[in-house]
Amino acid sequence: MVDLSVTFVGKKLRTPVGVASHALVRPEHDPQALCMHLKGYVDVGAGFVYTPFINPELKHPKGMAPVYKFMAIRAREPFAYEGLLVATDAQRIMCRLEEGLRLVDCLKKTLPADVPVIANLIGPGADPEGWVKHCKKFEDAGADLIEMNVSCPLPAATARAVCDYAAGDLSEAAGALLGDSPALLIPVVEAVVKAVKIPVGVKFTPETGFPRLVGLAESIKKVGAQFITGINAPITCSPPDIYNEGKGKWAGIEDNMICAALGPMDRFICYRNLAAISLFVPGIDLAAVGGLVEPEHIVEAMMLGAKICEFSSGLFWRGTKLIKDTINFLENEYMPRMGYQKVEEFIGLGVKHIKPIEEIDWKMEDYVSTVDDKRCVRCGICCNGICDARSLRENPLRVVIDEEMCYGCGLCQAICPEHAVSIIEKKHKVIGVSFLPSR
Ligand SMILES: Cc1cc2nc3c(=O)[nH]c(=O)nc-3n(C[C@H](O)[C@H](O)[C@H](O)COP(=O)(O)O)c2cc1C
Ligand code: SF4
Ligand code: SF4
Repeated sequence: MVDLSVTFVGKKLRTPVGVASHALVRPEHDPQALCMHLKGYVDVGAGFVYTPFINPELKHPKGMAPVYKFMAIRAREPFAYEGLLVATDAQRIMCRLEEGLRLVDCLKKTLPADVPVIANLIGPGADPEGWVKHCKKFEDAGADLIEMNVSCPLPAATARAVCDYAAGDLSEAAGALLGDSPALLIPVVEAVVKAVKIPVGVKFTPETGFPRLVGLAESIKKVGAQFITGINAPITCSPPDIYNEGKGKWAGIEDNMICAALGPMDRFICYRNLAAISLFVPGIDLAAVGGLVEPEHIVEAMMLGAKICEFSSGLFWRGTKLIKDTINFLENEYMPRMGYQKVEEFIGLGVKHIKPIEEIDWKMEDYVSTVDDKRCVRCGICCNGICDARSLRENPLRVVIDEEMCYGCGLCQAICPEHAVSIIEKKHKVIGVSFLPSR
């Protein structure tokens, strides 16, 4: 039996897989219902849960319905499913303080003691005192960890945000505007860390790109935050309908919006953050979120240094099954196959294999492309002007490669729909019909 437990910010969790702050069931409707919804994930193996973002000073009338619009983004094969766009009014979906506290209380009474409840909090602008007051309430309510949500794309994806950011005036819940303003953010994090006894983490916005995120991570670590989560959803724009005068494609809405992007398209931004922080700011715990939608993604994220991994929009499609399948994958497939006894054996394993581009030995002379003539259907895609080393020759029709020109870049392999191309070491090359003789 393998050991799935992991130590995160000094706490032992029974599994490294959990539920991101993402609930559509809002606690202002019924904290008990959301608590039971989250318990469903724990029952199938989730090692931790998050509350949705809770804001201390909401002005919307109690009971006001949240608004959301979702749109799946798909491309044709071979690109297929790209992700999900979401547009919403942040003011109408943030959780109110009172219900947020009731949710934490309910979770603490319902979940097993070794499943931490992480309070995802969004404070009043860039006001350290206001943040401290807010966070202390959740510490008192029994939250095990606090995650400072300084990355929500929603308040940052507004017209108002453009003016607020330019003026440095972040008086209300600012989300990603605060996360991407280090001079305002660091004093807030420092104040919260000093004021509470439970571990504090910061959820990064993808709007803080490489390499700026490295400096931000260093500062966050320096003021005592114990973990960094990443990423929240990036900000994008929904695509114009090219067959309808550039209008929007949202159900029932004619316009497009600056909105948030979820799902598969986020994964490589998540990996960028994990890799950058693992490499350049070791010694702070990492929680991975963003585009993780398959069990294998959990292992990839952990190999890049994440100690825990969160599913978010993936749960919309696959629900509790995604958690169940992931636990099963780790426990009964991946770890036995690879001979790992503990998940901790592969945390960060891939980091030592990340190298700065300047240090890569490209071995340009050593590798070459080859085509399996049995698989190749002579479609010509790989010869379509992508590379001077390849051509489709007639009589008999076949792909030929000029091995002197080929430097094994891999583009032909990447695009071949029949998986007929391999990149091989020249020394293993069998002189065959696919090669032009060397000149
Ligand atoms: C409906 C919805 C609500 C969300 N609410 C929160 C939130 O309250 N706090 C937060 O930090 N992130 C929130 N997120 C962002 C997710 O935690 C996560 O960072 C994002 O969905 C990217 O992960 P994914 O690509 O796996 O979906 C929300 C996402 C969705 C789809
Ligand atoms: S893309 Fe693949 S199948 Fe098409 S010609 Fe090239 S090797 Fe053959
Ligand atoms: S590996 Fe690159 S250089 Fe070689 S044939 Fe393919 S596309 Fe051309």
